[in-house]
Amino acid sequence: MEDINLDEIIDCLSKIAEILHDKPKEALRELREISARVDSQVPYRDGHNQRVSRYSLQLGKQLELNEKEMVILETAALLHDFGKICIDEKILIKPSSLTDREKTEIQQHAIKGYYILAGFAEFEDALDGVRTHHERFDGRGYPEGLMKKNIPLIGRIIAVADAYDAMTSKRPYREARTKEQAVEELKKCSGSQFDPIVVDAFINVLNIGAWRKKI
Ligand SMILES: [Fe+2]
Ligand SMILES: [Fe+2]
Repeated sequence: MEDINLDEIIDCLSKIAEILHDKPKEALRELREISARVDSQVPYRDGHNQRVSRYSLQLGKQLELNEKEMVILETAALLHDFGKICIDEKILIKPSSLTDREKTEIQQHAIKGYYILAGFAEFEDALDGVRTHHERFDGRGYPEGLMKKNIPLIGRIIAVADAYDAMTSKRPYREARTKEQAVEELKKCSGSQFDPIVVDAFINVLNIGAWRKKI
């Protein structure tokens, strides 16, 4: 896949934003493609946006989101880490643990993504998910330290989908965890890091997936 630069990305996003409300299917098809291209350029990120989007949509279905909310959710999930485009790649792929300064820099991706994309009015609802996907249910997350229901539902959904994918993927500094280990961790952090309703819904999603494979 050919590398894509920031100007090209912004150009594509403005075309997608223009048709998002009238032709959501077409807009999402293009957004999936562009987010896959952006992802493939960053080592250890390949496929992350797609998987987070898939898990988020499965969660959205479990939580009975309507069609319009599902479009917003998919848009947000595909763009959730968009701000990483502004973060020094050396930090993103650093094989050892990060210094406090590097951690703070990485954490900026949520707000940076929000500000870049805020130029497109059509993405407004989805931007709630971009901005809040690292907030924690107990208020100890970032960038704003929002708590419980003050975190928009799409942010609470993407947080679970994102953490599950991060845990079950290999990183420069650790091996991937198994599905069972990741589920244990989600359960352990239910009510502190994550919304318990979303964690329960995700466990249902995974159980349905496992059950389907058997029949
Ligand atoms: Fe993120
Ligand atoms: Fe992510």
